[in-house]
Amino acid sequence: MATQDIGVVGMAVMGSNLALNMADHGFKVSVYNYTPDLTEKFVKERPHENITGYYDLKEFVSSLKRPRKIMFMIMAGKPVDSMIDQLIPILEAGDIIIDGGNSYFGDTRRRYDYCKDHGLHFYGMGISGGETGARRGPSIMPGGNAATYAEIQPIYEAIAAKAGDGKPCCTYIGSDGAGHYVKMVHNGIEYADMQLIAETYLLLKYTGGYTNAEISQIFHAWNQGELRSYLIGIAADIFAEDDPAGGQVLDKIADAAGQKGTGRWTSIEAMRQGVDISLITAACNARVSSNAAGRKKAQAVITAPAGQALHNPEFVEAVRQSLYLGKIVAYAQGFSLYRSASDTYDWHLDYGKIASIFRAGCIIQAEFLNKITEAYEADPALENLIFAPFFLEKINANQASLRRIISLAVQVGTPIPAFSNALAYLDAYRSECVGANLIQALRDYFGAHTFKRVDEDGTFHHNWHEHYEK
Ligand SMILES: NC(=O)c1ccc[n+]([C@@H]2O[C@H](COP(=O)([O-])OP(=O)(O)OC[C@H]3O[C@@H](n4cnc5c(N)ncnc54)[C@H](OP(=O)(O)O)[C@@H]3O)[C@@H](O)[C@H]2O)c1
Repeated sequence: MATQDIGVVGMAVMGSNLALNMADHGFKVSVYNYTPDLTEKFVKERPHENITGYYDLKEFVSSLKRPRKIMFMIMAGKPVDSMIDQLIPILEAGDIIIDGGNSYFGDTRRRYDYCKDHGLHFYGMGISGGETGARRGPSIMPGGNAATYAEIQPIYEAIAAKAGDGKPCCTYIGSDGAGHYVKMVHNGIEYADMQLIAETYLLLKYTGGYTNAEISQIFHAWNQGELRSYLIGIAADIFAEDDPAGGQVLDKIADAAGQKGTGRWTSIEAMRQGVDISLITAACNARVSSNAAGRKKAQAVITAPAGQALHNPEFVEAVRQSLYLGKIVAYAQGFSLYRSASDTYDWHLDYGKIASIFRAGCIIQAEFLNKITEAYEADPALENLIFAPFFLEKINANQASLRRIISLAVQVGTPIPAFSNALAYLDAYRSECVGANLIQALRDYFGAHTFKRVDEDGTFHHNWHEHYEK
């Protein structure tokens, strides 16, 4: 009998915790995994009165009320296409497939059309918050057919994290791949946010001479103010964590960062869109270069500049202001990419709402996000977040600190590519001349690519060779 509200496919970390979250909110959940072991383990070890395990896909599908809602929490890529193809013959017109994995938005656009051709609705749903978020309330970014959103809305709004004002961190994002796109760029911002925090640690430790325990206290203090965020909070805990084997855990962790590639997707997509997200790209590159084969060798052969530690409160405050400014630039770049994508893919993204669903549940949740929502509510057509009065004031107030800490880091050889890119982005934006006139002249010289003039309308070519041959 079809009694179940939703089916979840994929009983690994995310799927099992989301199923429990749904069940806690009173929804009847059917669960299925393509190999039976995970389902068996889950229903045995974490039984719930609202959850029923299935080992046969047809029986799983038959258990669901119509229109059927089936959510995938499985590995992105081919497994998603394979599950869709297994379901198509046993689903009926109007049924809804929801892919909650970290799928590439281009794949989601293709699958949306593919399912539509088979009479099915397909949602690409960005989910952020990891295991705890899935269990207690994640940030949810659904993209798909607007007309059927009402069918899935009650479930996802119920299980989503709730922001300080009680509102669910779940909102309809846009058609086809919009939800996965917003999640992808969210991850790009997350890369930038984490890199800025990592560079802050380097500055305090190697330029400032602070111990891990002191840095923990500094981060705890910062987490009471405008920098309050999940990542600053957990970083404060990490700096204080002792290793049972002696010393501190952080100092025992190999200095080589991993990645699953969503930051890289964001950078590649920004290149395609022609949007400058240099800070986010710098964060991706920093993870790559942390794994560079020649690091040990370079350490031995490239001499380090001598420098003196700057152990004083003014330095710490300059770092704090720089971190805040870096965050502004990271979000300004991410939201510029949203703006461009919204036009390219005709998604009509609501930037204020996007910022509002990042306020809780997700990894980048921060006090700061309220200010982004307010900025877009005040001016939905905002060209760039840096022009919002609140952020502009911060940029102008904090830029001297950013310049100062970059100079200090450069002198003592502390690598801070994210901070440096934040400043380069702002300087390129505000400078009267960025040298593009010379680029155009060079292009016109060697390739007759033409140029525009500042004193006349039209397109021009100059006879450079004649001048050169003189
Ligand atoms: N972990 C996080 O913090 C997080 C946060 C947000 C989003 N996500 C995304 O959520 C999804 C699930 O993540 P996860 O960490 O729970 O699990 P995962 O390790 O990414 O994926 C494992 C799941 O995929 C299933 N699977 C593998 N190949 C399959 C196939 N050919 N057909 C059907 N199912 C297949 C596995 O089943 P078997 O075990 O039987 O092979 C298992 O249920 C992923 O797309 C992930 O990127 C993860």
